[in-house]
Amino acid sequence: MINGNKVLFSGMQATGNLTLGNYLGALKNWVDLADDYECYYSVVDMHSITVRQDPAVLRKRARALLTLYIAAGIDPEKNCLYYQSHVSGHAELAWILNCFTYMGELNRMTQFKDKAAKHTDNINAGLFTYPVLMAADILLYQADVVPVGIDQMQHLEITRDIAQRFNAVYGDVFTIPEAYVGKVGAKIMSLQDPAKKMSKSDENPNASIYLMDDADTIRRKCRRAVTDSEGAILYREEQPGVKNLLDIYCACSGKTPQEAVREFDGCGYGQLKDAVAEAVIAVLNPLQTRFRELEKDKGYIDGIIRTNAERAAYTANKTLRKVQKKIGFPERVR
Ligand code: TRP
Repeated sequence: MINGNKVLFSGMQATGNLTLGNYLGALKNWVDLADDYECYYSVVDMHSITVRQDPAVLRKRARALLTLYIAAGIDPEKNCLYYQSHVSGHAELAWILNCFTYMGELNRMTQFKDKAAKHTDNINAGLFTYPVLMAADILLYQADVVPVGIDQMQHLEITRDIAQRFNAVYGDVFTIPEAYVGKVGAKIMSLQDPAKKMSKSDENPNASIYLMDDADTIRRKCRRAVTDSEGAILYREEQPGVKNLLDIYCACSGKTPQEAVREFDGCGYGQLKDAVAEAVIAVLNPLQTRFRELEKDKGYIDGIIRTNAERAAYTANKTLRKVQKKIGFPERVR
């Protein structure tokens, strides 16, 4: 609890370009959470280096992500938006938690197995202990809730296990976090393969609409979206491509699937795709404009980065000092 509110923590990597799926599924819904939670949204750049990064690109993307958070409407006065690497407590707590995590547990992590298979030339120790750094992120702020997708659920589980193990030895040091269940965002699928989630790491650029795509690119990608040969615009599992287009349309327009189906009654897929494109453009256009304005205001963004990192560090250090004391590190002498 901070100021009588529950704490919410989430992190996003600055690798790849954010997609419409990230926006409709996560960012957009984070805007209103500030009313009910004390929210921390970290740009987790320390996680990003578990895979080799070009320094200039990483720096640029990290700043763009933070700016995008603000452009999406997440108020940096009410929420704490900061770079993970600016708060040294993440690394310090991660080390301690490493000593409370078993090799066997980490070996079972499916994301590690996937990433190790994908990057056979660089299976580094950081990739292996990635979930421990994530546990440190969450536990440093005594987070009550963590909005995570299904792919991160296993990491939240291990975070809970580590926290419970620590608490069992040292008393109630950490809040045990739970998955955030609330208004869930729309789950947007790939435009090229509606069985797969729309992903910023998809190799096919036509599979995803990126938040910075211009209007013509959005129109072209929508027109190329995979549908089916049924020819009817219905909202059902048997037509996953059409269903996905309707989901995008509804998430952008605020309409329900029933309303959308009625609206497109008798239309062809071409008309549906054009309408989806225009609905997406209407949502992304103002976001892009705001992003470009913010990007130019270097002083403002720098100020946010500085003050929010200070706020984050204050809370993080409170937890860290407590942990250090519990495990027997010598007290600081002033
Ligand atoms: N691993 C998460 C992802 O790739 C990002 C992340 C890092 C995170 N630390 C976190 C998410 C803490 C939630 C809470 O999606």
